[in-house]
This record gives sequence, C-alpha cells and structure tokens, in this order.
Amino acid sequence: AAIEKGGYDHFMLKEIFEQPDTIFDCLRGRLDATKGTIRMAGIQQNIQQLTQAKRIIMIACGTSWHAGLIAEYIFEELCRIPVEVEYASEFRYRNPVIHPGDVIIAISQSGETADTIVAIEKAKESGAFILGVVNVVGSSIARISHAGAYTHAGPEIGVASTKAFTAQLAVLTMIALKIAHEKGTIDTTRYMQLLGELHSVPEKVKEVLKLSESIRGLAQKYKDAKDALYLGRGYNFAVALEGALKLKEISYIHAEGYPAAEMKHGPIALVDEQLPVVFVATKDSYHEKIVSNIQEIKARKGRVIAVISHGDSIIENMAEDCMRIPETDEIIAPMLSVIPLQLLAYYIGAVKGYDVDKPRNLAKSVTVE
Ligand code: G6P
Repeated sequence: AAIEKGGYDHFMLKEIFEQPDTIFDCLRGRLDATKGTIRMAGIQQNIQQLTQAKRIIMIACGTSWHAGLIAEYIFEELCRIPVEVEYASEFRYRNPVIHPGDVIIAISQSGETADTIVAIEKAKESGAFILGVVNVVGSSIARISHAGAYTHAGPEIGVASTKAFTAQLAVLTMIALKIAHEKGTIDTTRYMQLLGELHSVPEKVKEVLKLSESIRGLAQKYKDAKDALYLGRGYNFAVALEGALKLKEISYIHAEGYPAAEMKHGPIALVDEQLPVVFVATKDSYHEKIVSNIQEIKARKGRVIAVISHGDSIIENMAEDCMRIPETDEIIAPMLSVIPLQLLAYYIGAVKGYDVDKPRNLAKSVTVE
C-alpha cells in the first residue's frame, strides 16, 4: 500500500498532488489554445441539441454537486442558457417539470451513485437529453447517458473527492466554451483568452501546490477549532461550500460554507474571536464586495484566513493568514482556489491523526439510496 501511495502518507494527499497531471490529461487531445479548438466527440455529435437547449439541469451529489454549482455560473455567463442545479436525491423524489428540450448534465466521479442514476432515468423518461460528466469509464452513468465526456482523472481512492472535482471543472468549462463558441454567445477575443487560461491551469496548479508546507503550518495553528465558516462570492461561492465539506469530512470539525454576503442573514451571529473564517477571495469582479465582507468579520473579531491572488495587498493587510495563488480569469479560478482548501482539510485531518482516506461513516460511492 505504501508503494501505491507513491511515497505520500495518504491517497488523498497523493491525489491532491496529482492535479497538475490529471488536469493536463483532461485537457490533452481536446484543447488547442493556439488554434482555438476544443475537440470533444460526444459534445460535437450533439451540438445542435446542446446549443438549442432551453434549459440545462445539473444533477449530482456531494462534491460533484459543487462542480455543478460552479458550472451553473459558467454556463449562464458564457452560453446564456438558464441553468438549474439539483441534488439528485431531491430531484428523483419530487415531481420536477422536465421538457423534451431540456438537457441534463449528470456529474459523477464514480458513475455509480444510486440517487444520480435514478434521477437520470426519471429525466430520460420525460424526454430530456442526458449528458454524463463521469470519471469511471464504462460505469452505470456513463452507460445510461445519451452522450458524455469523461474527466480522465484516473482512479480516485481517497473517499473525499479532490482530483475528480478539478477535472470535472475542466471538462464542464470546455463544454461551456464549446457551446458558447458554437452559439456565438462569446466573442472571439474572450474565447481565445479563456482557452489560453485553461491551458495554463496545470502549471498554475503546480505553483499552488508549493503552498503545501505553509498550509501544514496553518493546520497546526487551527486544528483545535470547534467550528469554521467558509465564505465566497460568485465563482468562488461553491468553492467555499466545497472547502467546508472537505473540512467536515476529513477533520470532523463542523464547518459551514456560505455566500459571503448571505452570512449577514445568520452565520454572522456565530462570529467571535475563536471562529476561523476562511474567505475564498481571489481577484475578480466581486473583489471590492468581498473586502467589505472581510471588514464585517473583522469588526466582530473573527479570525480571517484568506485564499487570495498574488499581490493582493488589500486583503493581505486585513487577514491573519493568507494563501496566495496565481492570478487567472475568474471563470477558471475555482480550479486553483479549491486546492489550498483541500490541503488545509487534509493537513488538519492528518495532524489530528485521523484516517483521512476512510473517514468514519462515509463511503466512496453511495450505491444505496
Ligand atoms: C460520496 C463521496 C463524495 C462524492 C459523492 C458523489 O459522498 O464520498 O466524495 O462527491 O459521493 O459521488 P459521485 O461518484 O457521484 O461523484
């Protein structure tokens, strides 16, 4: 088992560190940033169906659901198609309105999550078109989808999903760009710029991973926290949810993710000098807004930890601790900003001596309802 872990203490850490390669593998043979092309056979063959979609519904569970939330923002921005994001377990048991022109994007690492499978079957019966974004080749969801795109992240052993998540984001971003380009809802300059940014993600992820040692230090410092709050806005909102989920899963510290502005409607009541508040606050169009949210937390003596872009002296001067990552387009940012949060959760779980690859009560793939 030590050999399988490639010298890492846990599969989770190995998989976090694999991300430059897994994202590269996911883009390879598909994205050509120089020519401005994205080759994805399953998308190309169904491009009419996709560009004419009246609505897209993302269906998933857990971390894959968070990828769906980020994709909602990306698809609406680039493709101008209304998107809904549904928990598979809720979708399957209610009586949702589905039209034949609807496109379902089912997102799943394992391709075997029972609730997601049944939700797909239900949507299929109503005439929707099912596009699977799946990691495990030949899995149930890959087979029952009408078309799809694999994430090619390789086997994920750690129960808490890491590399599958960033690969899902890479695939979903490529699909959105392809549809937007075909529909003409994105101009060529922006399209080429985003292809270039996507192309540079593996290199930038390598940069982010250099934070590993300093994040291990932060883990030591914050490991005894009883609760934590994770806040983000825009594309980083669901990254905050994912950061909180990772911490809960691995370290058993109660954590909540929230849209940063929404905290005023509840979670702010929890803030005191004990509470770590993790802001996902990279340079984007929401920056000024999130700076005022940080001020609101500081005014209540919360301990601010922030994921920021290199050179952001404004937040650097406000936060107790910062994790600095390379700058990129806001649409691409989640693929980078989630990584320090994966590492933070990992190291807190590891320094507490927990079995981070197999957290209590959790399963890698939930094949029962
Ligand atoms: C379980 C796993 C999570 C995963 C979720 C959805 O809860 O522990 O890591 O995100 O299932 O799984 P899927 O395979 O459908 O992405």
